Amino acid sequence: MTQKMTLIGAGRMGSALAGGWLKAGFAGAINIVDPHASETVQAWADRSDVRLNPETATADMLVIAVKPQVFGDLAPSIAARVGPQTQVLSVMAGVSLATLEAKLGTARVARAMPNTPGLVGKGVTILCTKPETTPETIASLKNLLAPLGAVEGPIGEDLLPAATAVSGCGPAYGFLLAEVMAAAGAAHGLDPALAMRLARKTVEGAGALMEASEEDAATLRQNVTSPNGVTQAALEVLMSDAAMPSVFRDAIAAAIARDNALSRETE
Ligand SMILES: NC(=O)c1ccc[n+]([C@@H]2O[C@H](COP(=O)([O-])OP(=O)(O)OC[C@H]3O[C@@H](n4cnc5c(N)ncnc54)[C@H](OP(=O)(O)O)[C@@H]3O)[C@@H](O)[C@H]2O)c1
Repeated sequence: MTQKMTLIGAGRMGSALAGGWLKAGFAGAINIVDPHASETVQAWADRSDVRLNPETATADMLVIAVKPQVFGDLAPSIAARVGPQTQVLSVMAGVSLATLEAKLGTARVARAMPNTPGLVGKGVTILCTKPETTPETIASLKNLLAPLGAVEGPIGEDLLPAATAVSGCGPAYGFLLAEVMAAAGAAHGLDPALAMRLARKTVEGAGALMEASEEDAATLRQNVTSPNGVTQAALEVLMSDAAMPSVFRDAIAAAIARDNALSRETE
């Protein structure tokens, strides 16, 4: 018997995906393999919305959402669920298509890089497929990732580290922005807790405004910057080439280098 859809690993990302699939009406068709399932996943199984830890069988679609560090040890048991028709989708960071192919014994592999806002349906996921992947398969992979938010791509694997450095790591940059804005406000006399509330709501609000607007980020920035005004004075510091533009180029380069090193470690 084949299993239509099998998810390996129902932690934060796996559960966010499976929760979205259930909302989309896949109840009864989802198999989840996780030896320490959370209460949420156990409740889905108790209601027969999913089958938890079913017998090993070939899957049509096999989604892998375990930590990259455990993938090597798990690969033989995952490979036992892979047949000639199985499409594999991995959301594991740093595990290459070549490693997936070699360890799972199939060429039908794809990767995706989600980000943490996906846990509340506000993420952006970049899909990475092989050149021979058909448009139908790409469409069904994008559909599977839709519960996490927007889905971009597909792109080739050579560009995945750069995309990861922007969107995979990006939420941390947004949180850092709130931190450093608050710290700077506190350094100029604001109560630190008040400074953090102001900074946090400002980052949240800027994100919401950007989401609600069709305009690009640069236009939104210009719209709130009066000539010779207060905001412009701050932006002249932040946007000088030695400041944010070059710091970000260096940060993205460091993230890409680390991603490449991690990929070599999981080969
Ligand atoms: N979270 C993110 O924002 C994010 C972003 C991009 C990519 N990713 C990728 O998504 C993957 C999952 O990340 P996560 O944050 O969801 O991690 P997580 O919460 O730790 O989820 C991993 C799940 O796999 C389970 N697991 C462990 N051993 C297993 C086994 N033998 N068989 C089946 N399941 C097993 C874990 O159970 P235990 O907890 O009991 O070990 C856990 O429930 C990672 O590869 C990560 O690189 C995550």
